[in-house]
Amino acid sequence: MRVLVTGGAGYIGSHACKALAKAGHEPIVFDNLSTGHVGAVRWGPIVVGDIRNPADLDAALRLHKPEMVMHFAALAYVGVSMTDPGAYYGTNIGGTLCLLEAMQRAGIGEIVFSSTCATYGEPDQLPITESTMQRPINPYGFSKLAAERLLADFERAYGLKWVALRYFNAAGADPEGELGEEHDPETHAIPLAIQSALGLRGAFKVMGTDYATPDGTAIRDYVHVSDLAQAHCLAVDYLLSGGESGAFNLATGIGVSVRDIVDAVSRATGRLVPIIEGPRRAGDPEALYATGELAREVLGWTPRYISIVETVETAARWFMRAWTSAAPLKRAS
Ligand SMILES: NC(=O)c1ccc[n+]([C@@H]2O[C@H](COP(=O)([O-])OP(=O)(O)OC[C@H]3O[C@@H](n4cnc5c(N)ncnc54)[C@H](O)[C@@H]3O)[C@@H](O)[C@H]2O)c1
Repeated sequence: MRVLVTGGAGYIGSHACKALAKAGHEPIVFDNLSTGHVGAVRWGPIVVGDIRNPADLDAALRLHKPEMVMHFAALAYVGVSMTDPGAYYGTNIGGTLCLLEAMQRAGIGEIVFSSTCATYGEPDQLPITESTMQRPINPYGFSKLAAERLLADFERAYGLKWVALRYFNAAGADPEGELGEEHDPETHAIPLAIQSALGLRGAFKVMGTDYATPDGTAIRDYVHVSDLAQAHCLAVDYLLSGGESGAFNLATGIGVSVRDIVDAVSRATGRLVPIIEGPRRAGDPEALYATGELAREVLGWTPRYISIVETVETAARWFMRAWTSAAPLKRAS
């Protein structure tokens, strides 16, 4: 099966390409390289193009004739979405609409979409399930919810089949060391803590130590990026076997605090993480975690990484190698 992977040069999309190739599929990356890296595209061709540009999409679909689409391409910084919502709506909603219309023109009827726990906002109850009310609290979360809505409307009107995977926090790196997280600027807690431990940036900021959690810091659910990639392959199989469209949370069910991250990073790097404690960041919910049960039951997803220590170890190995050999994904591009 030939699969068009938008955003396949990015962090999660590149891991998905590796998993697709391992499963015997052919990933065709479609990416504008705004945050992705050519060096991360190793399992098939790349078309450099923009999802907001119908001509770019039509040309890629005509040339490679994919049979299915995985849609990772997006702007994904919650903070920036607050100050530049137009860009987020343009790419995440407008770009998704362009993609769905191009798929229609090319007669492609199935898509796996990268959604997010940010569509839930601040839930009233934990753990989050797929039926928890989606009330996003920032333009990023709203743009992803709107894109989910597009999928459902395209199904009603045109028969599109879709799976939306709502990831909780993506984390870790390819255990074989071929891929990892290389964002600039970096905003995710684990790479930031690793970089602080390695002396590549200043102290790691713990934002909020007065939450009503066991150690006072905020709790999140960290899912290994290879487990996310695996779920995408299972979603392809599910759609191919005639599964009904739907949304699935991808989560471990384990809440991990910011202090747990700091401890895991110290263990994995063998160095203390220098920290500064600061006030809560506006709009940061106290705790977000989900069971991921529906994905286990319906897609047959079994996340391999449940321990945050093991997940952080894969990320730390990647970073230690990356920073001693100067950013391998960028260098390869
Ligand atoms: N990282 C997380 O924790 C997380 C959590 C939930 C959901 N997600 C979603 O997963 C997806 C991938 O996230 P990531 O962390 O790998 O981000 P990333 O920035 O590493 O990857 C995004 C990719 O999309 C490409 N892209 C951006 N705009 C484009 C456009 N207009 N046209 C073509 N390509 C474009 C970028 O160049 C990049 O390669 C995103 O949709 C994101 O919203 C990520």
